[in-house]
Amino acid sequence: MSILVTGGAGYIGSIVAEELLKRDYEVVILDNLCQGHRQAVLPRAQFVAADTCDAASIDEVFQSYSISAVMHFAAETVVEFSVTDPKRYFHTNVLGGINLLDAMLRHRVYEFIFSSSAAIYGEPESVPISEGHPKAPINSYGESKLMFERVLEWYGRAYGVKHISLRYFNAAGASQNLGEDHRPETHLIPNVLKAALDINRPVAIFGTDYPTRDGSCIRDYIHVVDIARAHVLALGKLETLGGKAYNLGNGEGYSVLEVVQAARRVTSRDIPCQTSPRRSGDPAVLVADSSLAKEELGWTPEHAELEDIVESSWRWMRERPNGYS
Ligand code: UFG
Repeated sequence: MSILVTGGAGYIGSIVAEELLKRDYEVVILDNLCQGHRQAVLPRAQFVAADTCDAASIDEVFQSYSISAVMHFAAETVVEFSVTDPKRYFHTNVLGGINLLDAMLRHRVYEFIFSSSAAIYGEPESVPISEGHPKAPINSYGESKLMFERVLEWYGRAYGVKHISLRYFNAAGASQNLGEDHRPETHLIPNVLKAALDINRPVAIFGTDYPTRDGSCIRDYIHVVDIARAHVLALGKLETLGGKAYNLGNGEGYSVLEVVQAARRVTSRDIPCQTSPRRSGDPAVLVADSSLAKEELGWTPEHAELEDIVESSWRWMRERPNGYS
């Protein structure tokens, strides 16, 4: 029996697939390679190039492989683009997900782990944010993730799909072999490290007038390998905890400027910065209360220090300055 990992050639999906393989699960990766990289698929995984919106291809995957559970990462993920082009986000993130669920039902597969996001909470009323916090997304990315969590609830009640949603805060860092290579790169830590490699390329600081301690946005950075481990734990708990959602973060917020400082310490390089206007769709502060994941999934982040997270990205970026190409 195999685990189907959609979006398994992407940043988080590939590292979850790596964790599954380490634990001797059989893995089938489905990815349309629009954002994923074929080189991020480890040789022991089966690979299918297909899109979650293509029902016939998804059916073929369930016919060709014996799938016991699905981990669903395939999605449009850039918050800023989701403000200007929401249809892409609802199409891929909601319709693509429903397509996948319907194929699962046709092939009697009932176990599902969903890659959700802190973006479902919107601008929080209070931090740290626990799972019961009101959900009021401020961008279509967060809205699409929330809609799909709700779809899952109904598929759970009506058709018996056992599901767990994992709401990541800011995924960062790299595993030994796999890391972050988005094109274009929009995420803070890789952009800061690119500026460390090339001083002619300052990192833009998007907004220094937020109501925070230094005016820049505060985020909760969580190591991608810790996120991956939470997926493996969730898979083992679907029988008992199915239907629930868990935040994954470290519970510690760092401002954009503090991340730049941490990167200066890790790299021992000067990192030029350029103050820029706010980016649309960005909440001022997002910090997780992840106590539920710790209590119920038995999850403990192993790389909680920001500098360790930045260090792992730095190592990966120096080994692969051109990413996967
Ligand atoms: N930022 C900069 N300069 C950059 C890149 C980012 O100042 O070059 C700032 C952003 O404005 C934001 C912070 O750094 O304030 C973090 O930005 P990222 O793009 O790294 O991450 P986001 O917070 O926008 O988004 C991430 C994931 C989403 C998820 C969200 C939830 O990409 O999928 O976290 O917190 F929804």
